[in-house]
Amino acid sequence: MSIHLLFLYLWLHPIGAHNLSRSMTPLCLKDEMSALLQFKERYEITNVSDDDPLTSPKTLSWKNDRDCCSWDGIKCDENTGHVIVLDLGSSFLNGSIDNNSTLFQLAHLEKLNLNDNHFHYSQIPSRVGDLLRLTHLDLSNSYFSGQVPTEIFKLTRLVYLNLCCNSDPCERLLEMKATDLRSLVQNLSSLEVLRLGLVQMSSEVPNTLANLSSLRSLKMRGCKLYGVFPSAIFHLPKLQFLVVSENNALTGSLPDFNSSSPLELLCLDSTSFSGELSSSIGILPSLGYLDATDCKFSGSIPASFANLSNLEYLGVTTNPLTAQSISSLSWVWKIKKLTILDLFHNNLYGEIPPSIRNLSHLAELHLVGNQLSGTILPQLMNLTQLGLLNLKQNKFYGEIPSSIHQLQNLQALALAKNDFSGTVELDNFVKLKHLELLQLSSNRLACRTSSVNAGLPRLQILGLASCNLREFPAFLQNQKDVNWLDLSDNNISGEVPFWVWNGTFKYMQYLNLSHNFLTGLDRYYPINPSIMYTIDLSHNMLKGPPPEAPPSILSYIVSNNRLTGELPPWICNLSSATVLDLSSNNLIGKLPICLGNISKSLVILNLKGNNFHGSIPEVLLRGTQLRVIDLSDNQLQGKLPRSLANCKMLEFINFANNSIVDTFPSWLGSLPELHVLILRSNKFHGAIERHKSSSAFLKLRILDLSINAFVGKLPMEFFQSWNAMKSKMGNFTYMHRNLKPKCYLDLTYYGDWDFSMIVAYKGLKLYYPKILEVFTIIDLSSNLFKGEIPDVIGDLKGLQGLNLSNNSFTGHIPPSLGNLTALESLDLSWNKLSGQIPRKLTELGFLSVLNMSYNNLTGSVPRGKQFDTFSNDSFEGNLGLCGEFIYRKCRDSRDTSKQPSTHKEDLGSPIELNWKIVLLGYGSGLVIGVVIGNAFIPWKHVWFKGNARLRQQPR
Ligand SMILES: *[C@@H]1O[C@H](CO)[C@@H](O)[C@H](O)[C@H]1NC(C)=O
Ligand SMILES: *[C@@H]1O[C@H](CO)[C@@H](O)[C@H](O)[C@H]1NC(C)=O
Ligand SMILES: *[C@@H]1O[C@H](CO)[C@@H](O)[C@H](O)[C@H]1NC(C)=O
Ligand SMILES: *[C@@H]1O[C@H](CO)[C@@H](O)[C@H](O)[C@H]1NC(C)=O
Repeated sequence: MSIHLLFLYLWLHPIGAHNLSRSMTPLCLKDEMSALLQFKERYEITNVSDDDPLTSPKTLSWKNDRDCCSWDGIKCDENTGHVIVLDLGSSFLNGSIDNNSTLFQLAHLEKLNLNDNHFHYSQIPSRVGDLLRLTHLDLSNSYFSGQVPTEIFKLTRLVYLNLCCNSDPCERLLEMKATDLRSLVQNLSSLEVLRLGLVQMSSEVPNTLANLSSLRSLKMRGCKLYGVFPSAIFHLPKLQFLVVSENNALTGSLPDFNSSSPLELLCLDSTSFSGELSSSIGILPSLGYLDATDCKFSGSIPASFANLSNLEYLGVTTNPLTAQSISSLSWVWKIKKLTILDLFHNNLYGEIPPSIRNLSHLAELHLVGNQLSGTILPQLMNLTQLGLLNLKQNKFYGEIPSSIHQLQNLQALALAKNDFSGTVELDNFVKLKHLELLQLSSNRLACRTSSVNAGLPRLQILGLASCNLREFPAFLQNQKDVNWLDLSDNNISGEVPFWVWNGTFKYMQYLNLSHNFLTGLDRYYPINPSIMYTIDLSHNMLKGPPPEAPPSILSYIVSNNRLTGELPPWICNLSSATVLDLSSNNLIGKLPICLGNISKSLVILNLKGNNFHGSIPEVLLRGTQLRVIDLSDNQLQGKLPRSLANCKMLEFINFANNSIVDTFPSWLGSLPELHVLILRSNKFHGAIERHKSSSAFLKLRILDLSINAFVGKLPMEFFQSWNAMKSKMGNFTYMHRNLKPKCYLDLTYYGDWDFSMIVAYKGLKLYYPKILEVFTIIDLSSNLFKGEIPDVIGDLKGLQGLNLSNNSFTGHIPPSLGNLTALESLDLSWNKLSGQIPRKLTELGFLSVLNMSYNNLTGSVPRGKQFDTFSNDSFEGNLGLCGEFIYRKCRDSRDTSKQPSTHKEDLGSPIELNWKIVLLGYGSGLVIGVVIGNAFIPWKHVWFKGNARLRQQPR
């Protein structure tokens, strides 16, 4: 879609092997002919397509009976007859290559082009280094992998070297050591074109690169370069093309350019280049393409850019401290030749000026992610060349003008996430002859559709989330090329029609129907097509068994429905799945052993809120990718699987509300990334043992062990290594993972994952649909812990919530708790704490919820600061406590009439429990459960008042 045309003129085709004069040249040499034929034999010619005139299966024409110098792709020396050019670019060769290849017998080769074939991830054979006469070597886009052999650096005559983009797009890329990059630069000093895109180097850019004085083109996109880019390279006298995009750790700044510079193309996008955008860019006479998006440039875009009369592509993001009005960019509208304008995420505000109509060549306008407002201008309709209009994530409002149909060349129209309103007749958009992408999601639009046959089947990407749709758009049946479909958050009810998932959409990769009122699938069949990456049917009313997904699936999300039955066997075939979310349904049965088949790829496993029982299979946790496991709110039994300890990436573990019988899993302490551990309301028992390791739970920030049967003292060592909790500093972003699989380039096909949980905080049991990274709480309530509260808790300076209630802690309240200056909620109620309340606790400036009731505390309640805001509720049930703000005044106080309440009186009497978690208890003191209603309804928190019985103190 985007910029291919522009790149065509930038394409340096190194080898011209046509129009050979045949008359006087000698015939080719026998041994070379036989070498060529043997080479040919080794490769299958597959997937030949006639669509592209630049490709052809050249070797097919090679026949034993003819002069090989006349074969396709071959050129011989006119005097000697030696083969000097072998151009097999885009020749559909399919097979591996190694040092035994007869290719290396062609010792006189000067130009070798194997671009765009499939060599099955072969290493580049080191014998390439024998072809000492080579001046041109092109091995790009041909599925080579592994280390680039150092023998290549013997080819000192090379002027053209292209090893670019041998991508999968997975990890099997070419690699080059930092020292090798230096040798390359040193030895191949005649290079004019050096293309190393996606060759993984993890290297700094050597200063010596600036010695390659003949260099015209240097392309090193996505090479993992770091360090400072040597600014002398910008000044290479012949340099026309410079690409160092997508090297996030590469820093540098722009120099003062010289007007004699022949620079035509400059791509610095997705690097860490910083500083001001040099205004001297404006004097580069030939500059046609400037991409500085996703860098760290600051300041504004210099007005001198207006002098770039040859500029066709401008892509700039800056990182200005203050927002900039788009009207300050008035010079942009004067660059007449501009074809592509890319100003996304620039903090621009204001309205697009009418003078935009001057850009009559404009083919792409990207203004995504700014603060732009206003309506869509009529002047935009004058840009008849416009193929791509991306105004996503701004504040545009008003109706989408019907005149937009005048933009007959429109291929992509992205208006999502604005404030557009009114009714949209979808059939009209679909009539745009070239439209492939339509994104109207998340506005205030009412989308309507009537016709089945609107438009030609060209749409590939259709986003109509929150568009007030009541049914599936009928025209979709005819848009068979759709591969990305988002109809989430509409009012679509009833069954999903068969044609949505029976293979009508052969290329469907992403299907999001979440947040509707769907009740089921029209028929029960596997979802077709067979290659699909994301299915999101969550938050509907789907009944019956989970809809069957193809094995290719990466994200399978059917949470918050009414699905029933056991986990179907096909689940175990989803061996590529990274996300499996069947949470909040009515599924039953045991977790099958065969889930082990899919554990290797799983990143997120969410089965919470079902009725699974039985033990958790060890094999489920074989994977090393797993980051999130949530099996809470089921009836799982047995022990915690010990294999959890192998999942080194785990960040989030939630087994709350099951029937797991085990001791404290101190063996989880070795998980280096563990951030959240919730074991609430199970049958954990026994004492917490001292750690052997001094580096356990380093990153833990949320620990909930409440409502179990842990006993004994809390060892000091338990808290000592919790480094994350010791810091008040932290990340105020939400815990969030991008689910883009490592090797997929297009992130629009994959969702994001927000961590969520239910925990008690400030006395409320809350559902957190997102979790701040910095959120830090410990809840050990309702266990049988005894002994003193360890002093070292006072070191956990990041703590915001501490709940030790309903245990049998004795001794004094450690004054060190007064060091927890981030603390907002402290519950020590229903213990046997004695002594005075430490005065130091009045230092806790954020404390908004305090409960010390039902202990044996004595003395006067300290006064001042936060403590003046707590009422009697916080302190009742302590016979020896007195104070101005509680019922029992201290002796010297004027009013002594009211008596303190006692345990006995309180039991059974209605108690104001506006903030407590209410427990059901019985005589023995063993806690059996928590009164939680439908706590799984998102966005709603649940708490209870009155009417429940407090359990008795365990004794
Ligand atoms: C090259 O050929 C020899 C003899 O046929 C064989 O032993 C050797 O394994 C081959 N080398 C490679 C890299 O295939
Ligand atoms: C812009 O479009 C309008 C309406 O189609 C037309 O009247 C006007 O002449 C156009 N202006 C330019 C500069 O093309
Ligand atoms: C899908 O279902 C529709 C409607 O039932 C039918 O017309 C169409 O032929 C089916 N397509 C495929 C590929 O099975
Ligand atoms: C905070 O977390 C986000 C997301 O994980 C990360 O991108 C960012 O770099 C972090 N910031 C700090 C200061 O650690």
